[in-house]
Amino acid sequence: MKITLATTSPLLKPDFVFGVATAAFQIEGAADSREPCIWDTFCATPGRIKDGSDGLVACDHVNRWREDVELIAGLGVDAYRLSIAWGRIIRRDGSINQAGLDFYLQLLDALQARNIKAFVTLYHWDLPQYLQDNGGWLNRDTAYKFAEYADVVSRAFGSRVYSYATLNEPFCSAYLSYEAGIHAPGVQNRKQGRQVAHHLLLAHGLAMQVLQKNAPKALNGIVLNFSPCHAATNSEADLRAADMADQYHNQWYIQPLLEGCYPTLLEHLPAAEQPDIAEGDMAIIAQPLDFLGVNYYTRTVYRANSKGWFSDVPPTEPPLTDMGWEIYPQGLTEVLLDMHRRYKLPPVYITENGAAMPDKPVQGKVQDQARVAYFQQHLLATEAAINAGMRIDGYFAWSLMDNFEWAEGYAKRFGIVYVDYVSQQRTLKASAIALRDVFAGRQQQR
Ligand code: FCB
Repeated sequence: MKITLATTSPLLKPDFVFGVATAAFQIEGAADSREPCIWDTFCATPGRIKDGSDGLVACDHVNRWREDVELIAGLGVDAYRLSIAWGRIIRRDGSINQAGLDFYLQLLDALQARNIKAFVTLYHWDLPQYLQDNGGWLNRDTAYKFAEYADVVSRAFGSRVYSYATLNEPFCSAYLSYEAGIHAPGVQNRKQGRQVAHHLLLAHGLAMQVLQKNAPKALNGIVLNFSPCHAATNSEADLRAADMADQYHNQWYIQPLLEGCYPTLLEHLPAAEQPDIAEGDMAIIAQPLDFLGVNYYTRTVYRANSKGWFSDVPPTEPPLTDMGWEIYPQGLTEVLLDMHRRYKLPPVYITENGAAMPDKPVQGKVQDQARVAYFQQHLLATEAAINAGMRIDGYFAWSLMDNFEWAEGYAKRFGIVYVDYVSQQRTLKASAIALRDVFAGRQQQR
């Protein structure tokens, strides 16, 4: 099965950026050459990770990065999105770990030598444990520590970085980590969740100021995740529940960035659950963005619950991915056009999109046709948003290779490249070949 785009597709224009994405904790391994992070602690807590695994070795990328760069280059992508492990750069005592910086410098040089644009995310959830020991994101100081870390990184990396994203999906670091309790550090407390969200956004704003100073030529921005919130029924209560969920999970992050205020739902929270906001914070948060990264996987359905709040209704009808997430490509067009209508947006990149499938190599091949279909549908959904008048400058597949899928461990495979975790052998799946063909066809046209 192939991925087919019309020759007139805006995705085939020469400037449209295609890439693949990963994150540090999910692939790097080599845990002994960095500080422990909150995910190490979480993994070491029995019952937190479904398969009882951890990130100590992962895809052993720190040792195999040369091979992985060849893999990326072989796909014919324009860009590679990676994240930096904070604890590989700044030690517990505050000193800079030069070996950690050197690892990334070599990697960035190798990408540059192959003409691959580096999209660097500074924080993809792996907060150093030494900061967690001081309160982590609940402590306002962590936001200032993040700006210092951004300063060290952006000075060291110089012109090697095409784009910096401050944070990946603050929704997850706030809600999943501090309200749902399913991500590290595993807390369930609404006030804390809202406070963490606020400190993350503050950290973003402070780091943006640093990046615009140190890397004024880079595209500097943030990566947010979006899921359209649909009502389970047309009842007024469910419609209201879906709207609250949208405010709480989607608008909570984008509105402060673009308009300097939280959604009105904030005022409906009991005072004890509202975040503390210091004077001037909202102006810091609303720094101009060079780009907005949008991650999209699925939609979410909500119903009203007895507490006057919303509850999600997990999907049961196929087509579902191996995560149990509904395959709903039109939701991508919907979230994109919805934010296009609501806000004055900077250029948008789809920074993550992909699906977990129960892949099994058969005679050395992985025929992940369902994933090929997923990419086909979501590329068309992206195209539809562009054709409706929105500016979208790039698309990144999640993920380059199978990796540590957080609370799910290694059981869920999102890669376009299959990883055998015993031999660490990488094998292109059918989806990698289908995407590679799209990229190659495009280069021939240039
Ligand atoms: C996103 C994360 C990414 C990956 C995908 C499946 O929320 O940013 O690290 O786990 O989900």
